[in-house]
Amino acid sequence: MNAAAKVEQLRISKGKRRISALTAYDYPTARLLDEAGIDLLLVGDSLGMVVLGFPDTTHVTMEHMEHHVAAVARANPQALVLGDLPIHSYDTPKLALQSAQRLIAVGADAVKLEGGEIMAATVQHLTDHGIAVVGHMGMLPQQVLEEGGYRKKGKTPAAAEQLLRDADALEKAGVCAIVLESIVPAVATTITQQTRVPTIGIGCGEITCDGEVAVIADLLGSFPWFVPPFAKPEAQLAELTRQAARAYRQRVCGA
Ligand code: KIV
Repeated sequence: MNAAAKVEQLRISKGKRRISALTAYDYPTARLLDEAGIDLLLVGDSLGMVVLGFPDTTHVTMEHMEHHVAAVARANPQALVLGDLPIHSYDTPKLALQSAQRLIAVGADAVKLEGGEIMAATVQHLTDHGIAVVGHMGMLPQQVLEEGGYRKKGKTPAAAEQLLRDADALEKAGVCAIVLESIVPAVATTITQQTRVPTIGIGCGEITCDGEVAVIADLLGSFPWFVPPFAKPEAQLAELTRQAARAYRQRVCGA
């Protein structure tokens, strides 16, 4: 399936079927997740933390993203490959277009950027040039330094109103879906009901959005040093890895 068909399938899933999305940063993971039938592979800038060892996503560069989007795209997945635009790669609409074209050139089907109403002109510029864009609103990890931490969004009526305006502006600018991150469940539900494009939630409670996205390390239990409160691991790969390494060491070096 080509990129346009994958994007259309995502767009028309609203109200018909739920969307499963997971992050992937490398070829084997992309192949395995695709074989499991995951709809969307997000090459997220969470890469910076769970793969590259940075404290947050603000250290991720275009070169990092190109390297990992290309690796995921080499798996030739049925799933839509969504590449995150890293911090400062979309500071102006013109720069955003250049950065998005770089990720598309290495295999992304669509790009994601953070911000609501304030990013509408940039999103419009990308969609006018035929780039499929997924919005990302609520808690914005690229703002963690300014905000001094990761905080829940939509707690006051004014904040909830702004989030609704953000979703509306992104939709009008032509996004094909919106990631909602760490928004209080009632507000995430209202946004989902009032928006015509699919919402994909993380940390917004259960069944408040049209689909869910999770960081693969949180699902696999492979990054034990930071586990977000909403993570629901289905495996404990960190401990399995330690056990396998100890067994190997014993085999090679003896007791
Ligand atoms: O980078 C990422 O993994 C993300 C998810 C948290 C949605 O943007």
